[in-house]
Amino acid sequence: MNIKQLLSEKVSAAMVMAGLPEGTNPAVSLSSRPNFGDYQANGVMGAAKKLKINPRELATTVVDHLDLAGIADHIELAGPGFINIHLDKSWLAAQLANMTDDEKLGVTQRGATQEDKKQTVVVDYSAPNLAKEMHVGHLRSTIIGDAVVRALEFRGDKVIRQNHMGDWGTQFGMLLAHLSDKLNANEVAETALSDLENFYREAKVRFDNEEGFADRARDYVVKLQGGDKDCLVLWKLFIDISIAHSEDIYQKLNVTLTRDDIMGESAYNEDLPKVVNELMTKGIAEVSEGAKVVFINEMANKDGDAPVFIIQKTGGGYLYATTDLSACRYRSDELKADRIIIFTDARQSLHFKQVEIVARKAELLPEHVGYDHCPFGMMMGDDGKPFKTRTGGTIKLAELLDEAIVRAKAVIKEKNPDYPEDKLNEIAAKVGIGAVKFADLSKNRTSDYIFNWKTMLSFEGATAPYLQYAYSRIQSIFSKAEIAQANFSADISIIEPQEKALALKLLQLEEVLDAVISESMPNLLCNYLYELASLYMSFYEACPILKEGIDPAVKQSRLALCLSISRTLKQGLDILGIEVMERM
Ligand code: ARG
Repeated sequence: MNIKQLLSEKVSAAMVMAGLPEGTNPAVSLSSRPNFGDYQANGVMGAAKKLKINPRELATTVVDHLDLAGIADHIELAGPGFINIHLDKSWLAAQLANMTDDEKLGVTQRGATQEDKKQTVVVDYSAPNLAKEMHVGHLRSTIIGDAVVRALEFRGDKVIRQNHMGDWGTQFGMLLAHLSDKLNANEVAETALSDLENFYREAKVRFDNEEGFADRARDYVVKLQGGDKDCLVLWKLFIDISIAHSEDIYQKLNVTLTRDDIMGESAYNEDLPKVVNELMTKGIAEVSEGAKVVFINEMANKDGDAPVFIIQKTGGGYLYATTDLSACRYRSDELKADRIIIFTDARQSLHFKQVEIVARKAELLPEHVGYDHCPFGMMMGDDGKPFKTRTGGTIKLAELLDEAIVRAKAVIKEKNPDYPEDKLNEIAAKVGIGAVKFADLSKNRTSDYIFNWKTMLSFEGATAPYLQYAYSRIQSIFSKAEIAQANFSADISIIEPQEKALALKLLQLEEVLDAVISESMPNLLCNYLYELASLYMSFYEACPILKEGIDPAVKQSRLALCLSISRTLKQGLDILGIEVMERM
């Protein structure tokens, strides 16, 4: 159910009947104030201006043709040509009943109509660099990507996750050289690699200071990329251990990525020479100072200097960029993507712009395949500088998440001193992880944001605990009323303004999800859920449910409304990968 879309179709039809050209934008939107109706159609003004006719007269004709029988209570004309639509309460109640009964909460499934085709969407997210442990920099890609993936799936699209792990860079040369020395000294791989961060640091110190080590490291890179068996065995040890690390994190974060979704840089190794050859043959790439490069004329500055995009280094090595070109081909040809979405921090924006230009020119990425690089800003500390440990080191993601749980536990314990330990732990994990995720997901992804424990764990404002609390309050109403939600169903009648506001909000779910999907912006869903929970709180204050002497039909109706809110909150939070609980 998408009210905005339905009204847009109706108003468009009326506009055509009023003599306006097919395709004129009806400009339907939610009204900013209740006295302007529930929805407004403002498209008449623009159309009248174009045709140089009186907007008010045109609006009158459009309204004459506008058939909203059964849907709207009344339609009113305001100002120079605004059309204000007041929806009918029983129509809203009927839509709500359909929504509550449906396991997809009334969200139309892609493919249900001819116009709304099911798409294959390849989503590239998380993608940590395996030589290191995951740090806070990979949090955003991982959780924003996962929320968009879940929204796409809920709407019925086919999603193919691609975890483009950095498992193949030159850094592996130094790591393999260091690891082979350790194994020669009879160390066990698991022990040597138990602290990846430390291992990386040791290797780097040797690389920078020890004579001959850097050369050995470079030999290892060449051997590894050439497919040397012994090297691959060492490399595999490394990869397996670091993948296991990331899997722990994914599980803790309640993220849907699995081992099957990994398609790391190494997977493209064999295709890289082919990509370079193809670009050379097509005359897109050329040799410049020994390297193979593409001059991107489309991005030339005003003096005509084009940026250089290197696809093969002088010594023959391939680059991150070459791999991304190969990935374009794989995703469109093999995976049959209609759209590719990539989540990385904003510093890679130029890289992906260049990849797209080159890939399109080389026909590795057909015109009909969408290519959306979705950049995000950085996590900042309270001091407004990039989020670091006190000593200026990068913060390991695993440690950050553990701290979230410890802090959440303290907050919950303060509220409920007599909860048993195991219950506290269970709630703390859901609240702590939820708080970190919601704080991040609720920000417009393109901007930097300040990471602050206190605000994210607060029970007030747009936070995970606030939403989780709203959910568990509804659960306690049902348990007080001794009603099982599973089989509960009742007619809803919308009487009070708070009830109408809730009904309107609940029926906006599809509209919001579509915006989340098209813009790759989970913050829109966060805002929506926060508004829904706030409306519920006002409804709860204004409209008694279990009060003695209440009309049984009103009680049933309000319970039905509560059920719809509870399902929507749970489902919405699930799309964000945040769990709820019966009591907190
Ligand atoms: N491993 C990269 C990083 O940590 C992100 C990879 C993103 N995906 C891609 N196709 N390049 O920055």
